[in-house]
Amino acid sequence: MSAGWGDGTRSVRAGLPDAVPGQPFLPGPVFAAPYHLDPWRGPAAAPDGYGRPDNPTRRLLEAAIGELEGGDCRVFASGQAAITGLLLTVLRPGDTVLLPADGYFPVRAFATDTLERIGVRVGLVPTAGPYPSFEGVRLVLLETPANPGLDVADVPALAAAAHAAGALLAVDNTTATPLGQRPLDLGADVVVASGTKALTGHSDLLLGYVATRDDALRDAVTGWRTTTGGVPGAFDCWLAHRSLATVDLRLARQAANAEALAGLLAGRPDVAGLRWPGRPADPAYPVASAQMRRMPGVLSFDLGDADRVARFLDASRLVAAATSFGGLHTTADRRAQWGDDTAPGFVRLSCGIEDPADLVADVAAALDAATG
Ligand SMILES: Cc1ncc(COP(=O)(O)O)c(C=O)c1O
Repeated sequence: MSAGWGDGTRSVRAGLPDAVPGQPFLPGPVFAAPYHLDPWRGPAAAPDGYGRPDNPTRRLLEAAIGELEGGDCRVFASGQAAITGLLLTVLRPGDTVLLPADGYFPVRAFATDTLERIGVRVGLVPTAGPYPSFEGVRLVLLETPANPGLDVADVPALAAAAHAAGALLAVDNTTATPLGQRPLDLGADVVVASGTKALTGHSDLLLGYVATRDDALRDAVTGWRTTTGGVPGAFDCWLAHRSLATVDLRLARQAANAEALAGLLAGRPDVAGLRWPGRPADPAYPVASAQMRRMPGVLSFDLGDADRVARFLDASRLVAAATSFGGLHTTADRRAQWGDDTAPGFVRLSCGIEDPADLVADVAAALDAATG
């Protein structure tokens, strides 16, 4: 991978094997539980012996994501498997971990249940701060931009503060993707993410990953994954790798759609609490524009109550009611229906790759219908 290449070039080439005449650009998935072994030398003779620790399709995907994040990558069966794997690899009884108070809520649920039960102290901090002293803290996990509220944390400043206190800094890079920001370049020790969202973007698979430049941490995470077994299957790895080739194009259209919709929503009296970190009026804009390479395709706002959200979704032809985000199709999710700690009319809207003019016209008409 050439250091000077742009995002489109890096995405379409990421993780591909060297060209070999007669071979495909991206080899198809290798489906194997056991592989043939050398009867004399055993597993030492070949890189693959058993499917839980070893799979060549998975290794190509890890090479690709690792190139984009700028570190060594290990993929997991889902974002949750990656995040909980990192937490359980690093944390020991008596340690303290700080987590986002406004991030993806199953991470908090896992922490206050499983981690506290094994004697880990859990602190919750709003993404926008203020942050407490990191003295005595083992791990700080940021989620920036945070899902679903889209606040942003200052990664370089918090990495410096964490390191001064002897803590590790992890960043959940799900919403931004490695094209939107490179936390390892910003000073983070480790990246975790759900690849289920914009990274792969086709709403057809679950994936998670951990990426780091710390060899000991990489090996510990690898060992954790091998013994606990939360690996993605070969077909999902192949689909994910295939999807990575278009991530630059998809993100560009999603961000253009988010910008166009933010312009529409900001001017509507029937929409409150609009958040999109790419909007100069947004409180997150100063930090986001300093540390992010591009803005996400996700925005959030409040339509007041659940009925109005339902009327809006019913009236729209292009916004599908669905959870998750980052996919090709525009979707919107009323987060409170999942027990998330949000207001009843709070909506997270994820822009797809439709034409901006069509999307703006559709959302405007659906809001008119919902309000009327
Ligand atoms: C920020 C963030 N991190 C992690 C996850 C978990 O990812 P997965 O659903 O792939 O387990 C999600 C899922 O929505 C998320 O939004």
